Amino acid sequence: MSPISLTRHLIEEQHAGHINADLRLLIEVVARACKSISIAVGKGALGGVLGEAGTGNVQGEAQKKLDVLSNEILLEANAWGGHLAGLASEEMDHSQAIPDAARRGNYLLLFDPLDGSSNIDVNVSVGTIFSVLRCPEGVTEPRDEDFLQPGTAQVAAGYTVYGPSTLLVLTTGHGTHVFTLDREIGSFLLTRRDVRIPADTQEFAINMSNQRHWEPATQRYIADLLAGKTGPRGKDFNMRWVASMVADVHRILSRGGIFMYPLDAKCREKGGRLRLMYEANPMAFVVEQAGGAASTGRQRLLEVQPTALHQRVPVFLGSRNEVAAAVGYHADG
Ligand code: AHG
Ligand code: MN
Ligand code: MN
Ligand code: MN
Repeated sequence: MSPISLTRHLIEEQHAGHINADLRLLIEVVARACKSISIAVGKGALGGVLGEAGTGNVQGEAQKKLDVLSNEILLEANAWGGHLAGLASEEMDHSQAIPDAARRGNYLLLFDPLDGSSNIDVNVSVGTIFSVLRCPEGVTEPRDEDFLQPGTAQVAAGYTVYGPSTLLVLTTGHGTHVFTLDREIGSFLLTRRDVRIPADTQEFAINMSNQRHWEPATQRYIADLLAGKTGPRGKDFNMRWVASMVADVHRILSRGGIFMYPLDAKCREKGGRLRLMYEANPMAFVVEQAGGAASTGRQRLLEVQPTALHQRVPVFLGSRNEVAAAVGYHADG
């Protein structure tokens, strides 16, 4: 049987009544932009895309050339598509309404154009994360506040990983599906339908160098994981940390695990390290749709009511029984 392309998969989702034609075409545009980013990432030093851009973003981070380029590719691809009312990005101070009012559609797109910036120059996997919301009823020119919808309002979300293969992982609220880019024919092809994350795990992902800055509850939880077979958890745990959220989450989607970026003394004032709208919410949607769980440690991530576009949150996501265990340590303190 011939492989199922992303295009065919989306048409089937439309026929099943899961998405409408506009959302289907919007996802196609995002996928096309990600193909361009994948090509740019793949060229590396030969394409002159490595290194610093010499600018900063609203997050207080130094931008890499690829952060800026990926943002431009996504903006350019989506500006004329006709399916979007506005977009917002980790790399832009404010959201942007689609300039040509005649070409405005009904959706809002949020993205982290290039996730894992610190890994660009060392040839380690990076990716793109995106989230789609409906433009509120009656709003013709969306502003930042129109994007402040909880993760439960997402109509689609996903990410790409630019690794040994380029992958696109997508949910429209009916399971999580993985597509692999066939570079010869230039199409994303369905390679895993309805991924399920194992409920239990013996693998965790956290930046251990922050240990001394964590809250006491996180200290206790990780200490119990490290105690291994003879500790309170009664099993040994392995640890992995790529430092690209897309790669860490994709490993967990593939074989289970728990990913954490908890509150620590360094990020406490900002509310966390990772961005709610561009990183946490889309990943939480993908993970929940694969049978996993996602929490701030105290609340289901998708139920957080955003108050600012660039809001940050603590993140615990992955195998659902392990996320529940982690939440157990945090819920009461
Ligand atoms: P971005 O490159 O989009 O700014 O995001 C980087 C994030 C995320 O991908 C990763 O999990 C985390 O930063 C890594 O943080 P540390 O450098 O503290 O490990
Ligand atoms: Mn960044
Ligand atoms: Mn990121
Ligand atoms: Mn980024």
